[in-house]
Amino acid sequence: MKNIRLIATSTFGLESCIKREAQRLGFENIKAYDGRIEFDGDESDIVKANLWMRFASKILIKIGEFKAVTFDSLFEGTKALDWGEWITVDGKFTVTGKSVKSALFSVPDCQAIVKKAVVDKLKQKYKVDWFDETGAEYTIQVALLNDTATLTIDTSGGSLHKRGYRENAMDAPLKETMAAAMIDLSYWRKNRILYDPMCGSGTIPIEAAMIARNIAPGLNRSFACEEWERIDKSIWKQARVEAYKAIDYNVCPQIYGSDIDEEAIRVAKENAEKAGVDDCIEFMVKPLQEAELMGDYGCMVTNPPYGERLGELKKVEELYRTLGKLMSTNPTWSSYVITSMEYFEKLFGKKADAKRKLFNARIKTDYYQFYGPRPPKGWGE
Ligand SMILES: C[S@@+](CC[C@H](N)C(=O)[O-])C[C@H]1O[C@@H](n2cnc3c(N)ncnc32)[C@H](O)[C@@H]1O
Repeated sequence: MKNIRLIATSTFGLESCIKREAQRLGFENIKAYDGRIEFDGDESDIVKANLWMRFASKILIKIGEFKAVTFDSLFEGTKALDWGEWITVDGKFTVTGKSVKSALFSVPDCQAIVKKAVVDKLKQKYKVDWFDETGAEYTIQVALLNDTATLTIDTSGGSLHKRGYRENAMDAPLKETMAAAMIDLSYWRKNRILYDPMCGSGTIPIEAAMIARNIAPGLNRSFACEEWERIDKSIWKQARVEAYKAIDYNVCPQIYGSDIDEEAIRVAKENAEKAGVDDCIEFMVKPLQEAELMGDYGCMVTNPPYGERLGELKKVEELYRTLGKLMSTNPTWSSYVITSMEYFEKLFGKKADAKRKLFNARIKTDYYQFYGPRPPKGWGE
């Protein structure tokens, strides 16, 4: 029975991508809110969501939600929930918290009260006075918004952008979840060329190659709930076996990445190898000024420097002009650029066909989308 309410947390601006992904994965009763998507699932859906969701930050179990304007109501509301359904007698649990526009604004106090209420509830269930907390980890979160407390347990552990292939990153790397969403929001399909001319540690090309080959983003990492008693190890095993079988190594898309920085390209190659996609990406050391858009109907997807560092602005303005000139050399291409620079279109020399507000590592940015023509029917098949 799908009686577990799950939350996929979202970076601001990616909610619609996550909602579409939840639909593609077959989840039920999907609802989108600011910063999160909720859906119903069972234990195998928790595993599926962690292994397969490319754009979400974390998968949480919603244990309960109630009004809480006093510490007493927070305590009683928390204690009324069935924590023993998930947390075992040896479970190690910590409580994190946040509070926005709520009477209960002291987060450390809220955390302490929730911890006490959960301990009281578990003492009743397990009939013990003391918990050793030597077992699996359960991170509870109390999130207060407009006086409503939402109590969750984190199934993911580390954020889902940590795929396991990027131990090394250069300056200002893009989160893998954001790179994957930028690709999802573009016209790029695996039969088209993809090029990132300022690829840094290679996140955009690598995520595109993983999408093309249908590599589950979580296949190379572990998750907090893998250690939980309630989720049978056989569910994980089967989901991983199926994910390995789903990889299509016959797909060899044309993906390119270049950067002026030699060290960045070395790291990008290393990361692509770890992700299992090094054979379908060509990385080159090349300044943007020498970049070319070869072939037809390609997509340039890039995350250039934003010019926010002291002394960098003039250089970055010139870079954006160069980017615009590059795009005009091949009118069949589409271009996608994320930046915080408000007058980007002026420098680029063209008004974007679409713009989307996104937060990249807490920086308010726009994702500028310039559409080339659609390829003719049957092209590239
Ligand atoms: C924001 S970082 C890109 C980060 C990348 N998306 C990642 O995830 O690692 C911008 C990149 O632009 C590169 N860059 C700056 N000026 C360049 C130029 N003239 N030509 C090519 N690359 C340049 C920098 O070396 C840097 O790697």
